[in-house]
Parts: sequence; C-alpha cells; structure tokens
Amino acid sequence: MQLARHALAPIEALVYGVSYAFIQNLIRSPEPLDPQRTWHAVTRDMPRGTDWIRMHWPLKPLRRLVIAAKMKQDHVLGISAHYDVSNDFYRLFLDRKYMFYSCADFRSPTDTLEQAQQNKADYICRLIDPRPGEKILELGCGWGSMLRRLYEETNDKSNLYGLTLSREQKAYNDQHNHFNVDFADFITRQYGAEQYDKIYSIGAWEHVRPKEIPPLLAQLYRALKPGGRLIKHFFCRGNEGLIGPAACSQIYFPGSIGSSYRYHAKAWEAAGFRITHCSIHDYRPTLRAWFDRLVEHTDEALKLVDVHTYNRYLTFFPASWRYFNDHWGIVTRWILEKPRR
Ligand SMILES: C[S@@+](CC[C@H](N)C(=O)[O-])C[C@H]1O[C@@H](n2cnc3c(N)ncnc32)[C@H](O)[C@@H]1O
Repeated sequence: MQLARHALAPIEALVYGVSYAFIQNLIRSPEPLDPQRTWHAVTRDMPRGTDWIRMHWPLKPLRRLVIAAKMKQDHVLGISAHYDVSNDFYRLFLDRKYMFYSCADFRSPTDTLEQAQQNKADYICRLIDPRPGEKILELGCGWGSMLRRLYEETNDKSNLYGLTLSREQKAYNDQHNHFNVDFADFITRQYGAEQYDKIYSIGAWEHVRPKEIPPLLAQLYRALKPGGRLIKHFFCRGNEGLIGPAACSQIYFPGSIGSSYRYHAKAWEAAGFRITHCSIHDYRPTLRAWFDRLVEHTDEALKLVDVHTYNRYLTFFPASWRYFNDHWGIVTRWILEKPRR
C-alpha cells in the first residue's frame, strides 16, 4: 500500500501539479498526521525554484483541461463528498452555538471562535436587515446557522427558507431547526417571480461554476421583489487565470471552482443589480481556530471518521490558510439591490 502511495506521487505531480501530489501523499498516510509538522509543511515558504514549479506546472492548457474535466460532475456528488462526512465530526471543530462553516470576524486576538462567529452573524444580520413578515431565502444554508440568527430577530420561522445539497445537513435541519429547508440545487432550481424580500448566501457561491453565474443571477433577480436585496458573503479569486496549484481545490471540493472578483462584478451589473455594500474579511484566524479545535479533538474525530478523512481536514485548513495568506483569494461581503420600479 505504501509503495502504491509513493508511486502515485510523481504521476499526480505531472498531471495535477506538485502541491496536489504533495497533499494527496500526506492524506494517504496510514497514520493520523502530526498536526504541527503538517501545518508547517503545508504553509512554509519554499525555495524559489520549487515555488516557481509549484506555480507554473501543469502548464496553463493542461491546467485548464484538468479543471474542465472535473467540472463535468453533478454538483450533488462534490457537495456530498465534502459535507456528508458526519455532522458530529463537524460539531467537534465548529463554533458551539451556531455551527457556522464560513469565515468568522475575529475583532481582537482574545476573541474565541464563538465570539468571532457571533460577530459575523451580527454583521450579516445588519446587511440582511430582516423584518417580521419578510420572506427570506438562504442559498446553501449549512446547519441552519444564519437562519437561527435571523429567527432571533424576527421570531417568524414560517418565512425563513433554506436550500442545501447535503443530505446530512438537511437531516440536521429537520431534526433541530424546523425551518423550511429543502434538499435542492440552488443553481438549477426554478424560482417564482418576485417571491422573496431578501436572498442571501454565506460561503456557498464558491461552489457556483463561472458559466452558471449569469443564469443564476438572472433567476435570483427575477425572484426578488423590487427593492429586494441579494446579500453575499463568499471568497473570490483576486486574479483571472488559474494558478498552478488550482487542482488542489479539487481534493477538497470536487467539481467546484471559484471565479475572479472582476467576473463576478461584471455579472452583477449585467443582471441589473446595484452594489450598495462591499467589505473585505480575513479567513486566516477562522481556519487556524478550526485546525486547533480538530487537533484538540483528534481521538473523538477518529472514532467518527477514518484516518484519511481526518488527514484530509488536517491538510485542508493549512492549505486554505496559505491560499489566503498568499492573497490568491479574498473573502468579501456584498449587498446587491434590485432597484424599485
Ligand atoms: C461552506 S458551507 C456554508 C454553510 C452556511 N451558509 C454557513 O455559513 O455555515 C456551503 C453550503 O452551500 C451548500 N451548497 C453548495 N452548493 C450548493 C448547491 N448547488 N445547491 C444547494 N446548496 C449548495 C452546501 O450544501 C453547504 O450547505
């Protein structure tokens, strides 16, 4: 088995790049990875030559082919691969109150993960500005975290809706939250005209492929009432092209690829939205906090998932941290308004 593991590495390096091969090799370790060595190995600066190869291999045409092939699969498979692991496993490292799986707002070095997620929830709540009686939909609602925050404001469960493509999350919402959560693909779903006052998403647009963005925006624009808002918290790529390590994201989110800020902004304007809020946020402290919590709960984690799944998350947090530390991705929040007639 170990021979096969190491034999695969050069082949994967040729096809998918050195970062992909390196991380897959770590994940395939038969033992749980050593946390501190893993964090260091994945986030450290590399010698210039190695870094050049990391950024430039595979060559652009091969890079595009590799990603295009991965984009053919149904979203439900990719979403299930990441989110249908075990709700109890996620509970080990997410904040205890809401179970948010998206970037928090650490305002001071002494903020706990709970405080930082509360800060984020309060901030996004102000952007949504929910009023009792308003019909509000979340695209990609996870474990119902933000819906719960909105319910604290409106006390109106019947008007809160959510969509998820994870069966585990749907089951969790049915068991614990009792909002109107459907197991459905928000990209292909048909929305009625002028149905919602507010539509929002937190950490879900990253899963929408570039070609899917314009038709989805057209659907959402139509689904909002005049004067309605689309609120988005997500990360986008700062640059246009696919960087050398682009295939790495497929280890964690098969079938998903982010788009550049420029691509998004042009698509919003083309759809007719008016941008009324934009802010930038830092994902790194959240990723580090999830990593530390997972490490703290290693024994419980290994009772819930196999070693390879544990190793996948132990590499996911530092690999994502590095992506944001190198400023390839930026976390942003937006209010897009549908003008009144
Ligand atoms: C990173 S999680 C964020 C969850 C939640 N919004 C939060 O902040 O904790 C992304 C969510 O988007 C959902 N999602 C991604 N693509 C989707 C799609 N095409 N249709 C429905 N849900 C989708 C996933 O099921 C998951 O619930």
